[in-house]
Amino acid sequence: MKKILFEISKEHPTLPRSEAKACLEAEGVYFNAVESNDTFLFVEAEASKPLINRIAERVAFSFFIDEVLFISPPSLKNLLSKALSKDIEIEGSFRVRCENHQSHKTLKSVEVEQKLGEIYAQTYPVNIKNPDAEIRVILTDERWYVCKKSVKIDRSSFEARKVQHRPFFSPISLHPRLARAMVNLSKVAKGETLLDPFCGTGGILLEAGLIGVNLIGGDIQETMVDGCKKTLDVYNIKNYNLFQCDISEIPSKVNLVDAVVTDFPYGRAATTNREKTVSLYKRAFKTIDEVLKEDGRAVVTLPNMEAVEQGKGFLRLEEVHPWRVHKSLTRYITVYEKK
Ligand SMILES: C[S@@+](CC[C@H](N)C(=O)[O-])C[C@H]1O[C@@H](n2cnc3c(N)ncnc32)[C@H](O)[C@@H]1O
Repeated sequence: MKKILFEISKEHPTLPRSEAKACLEAEGVYFNAVESNDTFLFVEAEASKPLINRIAERVAFSFFIDEVLFISPPSLKNLLSKALSKDIEIEGSFRVRCENHQSHKTLKSVEVEQKLGEIYAQTYPVNIKNPDAEIRVILTDERWYVCKKSVKIDRSSFEARKVQHRPFFSPISLHPRLARAMVNLSKVAKGETLLDPFCGTGGILLEAGLIGVNLIGGDIQETMVDGCKKTLDVYNIKNYNLFQCDISEIPSKVNLVDAVVTDFPYGRAATTNREKTVSLYKRAFKTIDEVLKEDGRAVVTLPNMEAVEQGKGFLRLEEVHPWRVHKSLTRYITVYEKK
């Protein structure tokens, strides 16, 4: 079993951790979650390097995936004596980076970097600018983790895919990082099928398509379906089927799907076609229940807890991650499974 540490984003207290776990499951990795807080997830897992790379390519709310070399109690003296007693293997040059997540910072990251660097510099060459390996030290209140970086997550690609940079624009689209995290929470795997019955500009379908998932999209507005198609084509995504249709027509058009990931219409920007949300959501949950396969997951963005409760009439609630966008808008990223 490998000791693997995800350095996760503090953007949200629960969603990044859930997302990292869901990615491991989606890629079929058997793992045991040892410890976590809002800055890291430490697991023991059967995961090869190519598998770690696949997870790194899909995860949105992590910064790094590391291999844990050793763990020390929270003191510099302990950390350095452990470092002296444990042999580590570095191929080529190295540098040390330290992230201090302690609630009361008792020492400076640079001090850890220098002192640990001095120990390993006795055996390996230091290269601060362009090292072959990066030793990463994660300080938390309870434990200090000394790790070797496996992969740095490419977060800039999500920024580059924001709706204003895509061929079809509408302000209704979610940030690509959030859309990808929702896809990951569904645990959908490459080659499986994901449905977004309120696809809009295609922000969710795009993120799923980029990790090799087969796509089905629907939207009541022809302009959205056309715009969504343009976006998928520009990103060279091939395996998709789009329908201009009402949510209740979806079951007559599709077979069972592995996952449903969608952002329900609400607010001023995303039309509900003048239907009351309670009635539209009832029809939507019914459709999801009808088309989702037995062990499939539905990940749905909802505007309030009443809607989350409404979904429980159709599906089993697994997780809710309230995401405060601004004073008057909180999105509830909700995970359901079949009852
Ligand atoms: C919140 S938006 C989806 C945004 C999308 N996630 C994106 O990335 O652009 C909701 C979409 O639901 C569509 N919609 C509203 N009522 C519908 C209905 N009865 N059946 C199907 N689609 C509907 C709207 O046209 C809108 O595009």
